[in-house]
Amino acid sequence: MMFRNTTAARRSASAVAKRALSTKVLGAAARPTIASRVVTKTTAQIAATRGIKNINFGGVEEVVHERSDWPREKLLEYFKNDTLALIGYGSQGYGQGLNMRDNGLNVIIGVRKNGASWKAAIEDGWVPGENLFDVNEAVTRGTYVMNLLSDAAQSETWESIKPLITPEKTLYFSHGFSVIFKDLTKVETPKDVDVILVAPKGSGRTVRSLFKEGRGINSSFAVFNDVTGKAQEKALALAIAVGSGYVYETTFEKEVVSDLYGERGCLMGGIHGMFLAQYEVLRENGHSPSEAFNETVEEATQSLYPLIGKYGMDYMYDACSTTARRGALDWYPIFKDALKPVFQDLYESVRNGSETQRSLDFNSQPDYRSKLAEELDIIHDMEIWKVGKEVRKLRPENN
Ligand SMILES: NC(=O)c1ccc[n+]([C@@H]2O[C@H](COP(=O)([O-])OP(=O)(O)OC[C@H]3O[C@@H](n4cnc5c(N)ncnc54)[C@H](OP(=O)(O)O)[C@@H]3O)[C@@H](O)[C@H]2O)c1
Repeated sequence: MMFRNTTAARRSASAVAKRALSTKVLGAAARPTIASRVVTKTTAQIAATRGIKNINFGGVEEVVHERSDWPREKLLEYFKNDTLALIGYGSQGYGQGLNMRDNGLNVIIGVRKNGASWKAAIEDGWVPGENLFDVNEAVTRGTYVMNLLSDAAQSETWESIKPLITPEKTLYFSHGFSVIFKDLTKVETPKDVDVILVAPKGSGRTVRSLFKEGRGINSSFAVFNDVTGKAQEKALALAIAVGSGYVYETTFEKEVVSDLYGERGCLMGGIHGMFLAQYEVLRENGHSPSEAFNETVEEATQSLYPLIGKYGMDYMYDACSTTARRGALDWYPIFKDALKPVFQDLYESVRNGSETQRSLDFNSQPDYRSKLAEELDIIHDMEIWKVGKEVRKLRPENN
């Protein structure tokens, strides 16, 4: 039992346990006020307490930049002579573009004429010929070229975009994919422009909704090429302009590797695989679909994972029954040992470009949307996710 072997851990566990007891922890709905205290701070209070900080993350010091360094007036002044040409209007284009527009900046959108994004942009109030153009026109007009095309499209369009990226421009990405795997993507960035990255850690919808709530998403930032000596400053300013709350530094390479690895692992692929494995074993042993789903997904997402998010894994251990705690403590090392080689293979597959190649090959096919839809239909038709639909209807808020 690693957790209980040190005095500090004991103290921490005992403090957590006291909190747990005092709030009848097993009923997760009546949570104590740690999170609500944070949430109920006003936007102004949050902004007033934020700036550049050295934070000790579990023993490692890192610099974190927060948005109070870049109040709106400073952003307006910084970008007063700039045209921010945002290319692509998918999830990130939507979130980042609207946030920058609401921040009062001079933003234009570049997408292919009459595609789905063109129509979506018009619906969001972008005006053809005024601040909505085709891709090449927008790149030509921009002082900042923010390449938010899909990663496959960045590769497909690079040949026509590259000659338009003249020395005075700054090139921006939200993923290190195209630049780091340039041997595969052919995105060889010009040597004479600043090349920067801001990668929001969430979908563009979340980038937008958090901004509208007066909060901000956390993002990483990186500099690939610094010609002017101002590339870092530009990246930080843009990070705040697009709606980040706090920003931590990375490199293009670390960003792309960790991102591809994470989404294939715990964020999506790994967790999906684990849900399926657990569910199938329950079903093969005669458990009903609703029981199998509740014990696999519903309790996880509705009760336990939010606790991990709010207070941490150690808190969750203390919040569970002694029976659950004993079992989880015994079994987590077994899962870790079984899964670590899979994660090591995955990391290598990302690092050596295999995952990038696969993604480019698949997503560049003209019929990639219908092929993807076929695979997603398989998930849609799985018993587990059909059961989920029914279970969700039974939630109190849906009655
Ligand atoms: N989504 C996320 O959660 C997320 C999070 C962080 C970073 N990122 C990064 O942000 C960038 C943008 O991602 P996204 O998810 O917002 O993009 P997306 O939704 O995949 O991007 C679609 C955009 O690319 C355009 N496009 C596709 N093929 C094209 C082609 N051949 N020529 C011209 N335009 C084409 C689409 O236009 P049409 O409508 O005309 O097809 C659309 O505007 C990527 O680098 C991604 O890795 C994404």
